[in-house]
Amino acid sequence: MSDSFSNTRRRRALLLGGIAGVFAVMVFLITGLLTSIFQRKQEAKNPYVRLVEVNEETTDPAAWGVNWAREYDDYKRTTESTKTRFGGSETLPAEKAAANPWLTRMFAGYAFAIDYRDRRGHAYMLQDQDQTRRVTEKKQPGSCLQCHTAVMPTYRRLGGGDVFKGFEALGRLSYQEARAEVVKTGSSNPIAGGTQATFQHADGAHPVACVDCHDPQSMELRVTRPGFIRGIQALADGTAPTPHLESIERWRAGGRAKPYDPNVDASRQEMRSYVCGQCHVEYYCGPKTTLFYPWNNGLKVDQIESYYDQYKFPDGHRFYDWAHAETGAEVLKAQHPEFETWSQGIHARSGVSCADCHMPYKREGAMKVSDHWVRSPLTNISRACQVCHPYSETEIQARVGAIQERTHQLLDRSATALTALLDAVVAAKKSGVSEAQLADVLALQRKAQWRLDFVAAENSMGFHAPQETARVLAEAIDYARQGQLAASTRSSGARPAAR
Ligand code: HEC
Ligand code: HEC
Ligand code: HEC
Ligand code: HEC
Ligand code: HEC
Repeated sequence: MSDSFSNTRRRRALLLGGIAGVFAVMVFLITGLLTSIFQRKQEAKNPYVRLVEVNEETTDPAAWGVNWAREYDDYKRTTESTKTRFGGSETLPAEKAAANPWLTRMFAGYAFAIDYRDRRGHAYMLQDQDQTRRVTEKKQPGSCLQCHTAVMPTYRRLGGGDVFKGFEALGRLSYQEARAEVVKTGSSNPIAGGTQATFQHADGAHPVACVDCHDPQSMELRVTRPGFIRGIQALADGTAPTPHLESIERWRAGGRAKPYDPNVDASRQEMRSYVCGQCHVEYYCGPKTTLFYPWNNGLKVDQIESYYDQYKFPDGHRFYDWAHAETGAEVLKAQHPEFETWSQGIHARSGVSCADCHMPYKREGAMKVSDHWVRSPLTNISRACQVCHPYSETEIQARVGAIQERTHQLLDRSATALTALLDAVVAAKKSGVSEAQLADVLALQRKAQWRLDFVAAENSMGFHAPQETARVLAEAIDYARQGQLAASTRSSGARPAAR
């Protein structure tokens, strides 16, 4: 018995000793862990050392790259080409019309008929603008530069410190004169010879730069483009519901005392889309008036159309982009309405921003870094989509593919319908029907073309808002066929005898 008693005592002593030992090890581990967490927290709080000073004039991303090397390294990768079924492109992007011959007829009489290519990475934006035949062969305004170069210092200099004045002044110059002004501003580049040609053009100009999206002191996101600031103010001033932009609804409810200011009023999550909405939007950038975003009546295709239809140029003429060479119709040109289309989709409605998919977070040690290699999310599905959607990569590709293929088929049908309308108008005119007699048909052409182009010019092939995109194309087909029908009944003898 005593044996078993002492055995139990010994076992207990051993056990106690063991527990104490385990405890000591645990304390050691926990202390270590806490210290490590503390260090990592500090690291995450103070994720960079400001080695060089950057300010509002520092347009050179290489200078910022000294302080924020991770972001700069990714940013530089926008020189790399990526290709998906409907996105991205190889070295010099293909002419869009090579894949879609109907574009040349839709754009007859307009600069887009001579040169219109697929987009590529941010690094190339200024180079591609300098080189397009739309710029080298046609006269274009200085406003083009708002979205293709780090232009803010130039606006400030030309406006005597007032960005909006400088924005208007640069817009009044020709592209070539304005381009020369950008160079005169120069750029502070403390890194001698350290940059690649695409980021530091030979003449010192830069494509979109860190300073365009970040406050150089706080590194907070901010928007800088006057066109966007005016556009989003006009949207807020209006009455169109913006359920996905709660700060606008809040501002409206708050009595509208001061103008809506995205840099003050918007949430951080909204800013993660606004910085892209500075450029990825529909706009007017022609010779007749200052660059503007047509959002006064809302962001939907028909709301934008209604704004253009009521808009008069300073010379009193109604709004149009060009007169169609075959029919004479005064028509509209759509440009990359990504922000507007995203606004109609389920992701915007669920609070998912452009950056969530196009600049997803990645972990580097203790750090959460936003991927500054802005590109197609389909090249980056694990980080761009799988954080929210628990499906395999193949399944996610297939879901996107289904949306894009359906959109593409509808787009082709719309293009066929529009081409049929153009044919019918040409035939009617040949048989002696006047343009005045075709006024209602030309109005239908304007409507059909606007909708078709709105989808064709948008760069997600329907993904950003599948159902809205299908609605827009259904309307395009309907308007085109109505116009075709009206034109063909008129040329087949139903009209009054030609005089
Ligand atoms: C839910 C994810 C998601 C959100 C949010 C999103 N996009 Fe996209 N975007 C995509 C996908 C998917 C594509 C299709 C890419 C492809 O076809 O390769 C795409 C395509 C694009 C393209 C063309 C890319 C290419 O390589 O051709 C641009 C430009 C773009 N989006 C801009 C934006 C902007 C600006 C916003 C916000 C206003 C936005 N996107 C919001 C997922 C998203
Ligand atoms: C200063 C204007 C500007 C801003 C701001 C901007 N973009 Fe772009 N983006 C462009 C231009 C211009 C191009 C086309 C470049 C070319 O084809 O040379 C482009 C191209 C792209 C592409 C196609 C890339 C490829 O490899 O084909 C994507 C995707 C894209 N942008 C998404 C975004 C997102 C997301 C944001 C916000 C985080 C954003 N952009 C902010 C002007 C801008
Ligand atoms: C509101 C911003 C904005 C303005 C203003 C702007 N662009 Fe762009 N541009 C973009 C964006 C965003 C892209 C990339 C998306 C795309 O290609 O659809 C782009 C793409 C391009 C491209 C490459 C693809 C193509 O279309 O061949 C060229 C060239 C170009 N723009 C020239 C111009 C010219 C010329 C002007 C002036 C008439 C101009 N841009 C004005 C935002 C803008
Ligand atoms: C088109 C807009 C845009 C440009 C240009 C841009 N950034 Fe960012 N940056 C973002 C967005 C969006 C975030 C995410 C911020 C957030 O969620 O608050 C971000 C985040 C950051 C952060 C915070 C840490 C992180 O990675 O999330 C740093 C640092 C940063 N960027 C540095 C840079 C540097 C350096 C450059 C130039 C090489 C640059 N950015 C260019 C949009 C931009
Ligand atoms: C931050 C979270 C988030 C991210 C990132 C995200 N999604 Fe979504 N996605 C959602 C939510 C929320 C919905 C709405 C459905 C729901 O509430 O479950 C949705 C819906 C969808 C739908 C159904 C669309 C429809 O119109 O009904 C598809 C397809 C989809 N996502 C694909 C993608 C792809 C592809 C990516 C990456 C490029 C992506 N999502 C990234 C949150 C996200």
